[in-house]
Amino acid sequence: MSSFGFGTLTVALFALVCCSGSDEKAFEVHMRLEKLIVKPKESFEVNCSTTCNQPEVGGLETSLNKILLLKQTQWKHYLISNISHDTVLWCHFTCSGKQKSVSSNVSVYQPPRQVFLTLQPTWVAVGKSFTIECRVPAVEPLDSLTLSLLRGSETLHSQTFGKAAPALQELGMKFIQLCPRRGLAGTMPPSRPWCPAATHWSQGC
Ligand SMILES: *[C@@H]1O[C@H](CO)[C@@H](O)[C@H](O)[C@H]1NC(C)=O
Ligand SMILES: *[C@@H]1O[C@H](CO)[C@@H](O)[C@H](O)[C@H]1NC(C)=O
Ligand SMILES: *[C@@H]1O[C@H](CO)[C@@H](O)[C@H](O)[C@H]1NC(C)=O
Repeated sequence: MSSFGFGTLTVALFALVCCSGSDEKAFEVHMRLEKLIVKPKESFEVNCSTTCNQPEVGGLETSLNKILLLKQTQWKHYLISNISHDTVLWCHFTCSGKQKSVSSNVSVYQPPRQVFLTLQPTWVAVGKSFTIECRVPAVEPLDSLTLSLLRGSETLHSQTFGKAAPALQELGMKFIQLCPRRGLAGTMPPSRPWCPAATHWSQGC
């Protein structure tokens, strides 16, 4: 990971310019994460390390489930599991009574697996309006989500959600459309005074 590579370089340069013996005062703490973006319930590994030769205490702070897999004096390697929401992880070490920590944000990502479309009512008289509802369960992050209602390649309606509703399990939008006078091209004979049924819309949502 590039941030880890940078950290290693920093340590290497530091060793070149610094006099030996004073590393206890100017020690560094590093965190290496296997992943920064994970799916819900996914597990990932985290390595907390320090340049301090003899740290007194150190470890990983998190509200998530953690298991210490391996450790040596200057590092601890953990397995994090069952992540369900965006979180901040902290690695900390104390060296000669002085504590240092670094943090990293981990984001949970869940692309849409299913999209539901409902028409209410399913059949509408010419000239009456009807409601089209698109719903998508369990997607994250919400501020990356855009729900679009398409007819062919034409976007009828589009909605974003920001960070407004993190607790919702399911998001949706409603769109009210006036039933067209002649039915939609290719779906109904123009003479029939009804809008097309849901199946004609379902691919677009
Ligand atoms: C953890 O990081 C330290 C410092 O870079 C490294 O020496 C060690 O091998 C790593 N441990 C594991 C299990 O990857
Ligand atoms: C995993 O996380 C969910 C929600 O945060 C929780 O309800 C469940 O008990 C956790 N499972 C384990 C095995 O920790
Ligand atoms: C983590 O996210 C918070 C906002 O949620 C931000 O203020 C902070 O700078 C982020 N930290 C890192 C290390 O990216």
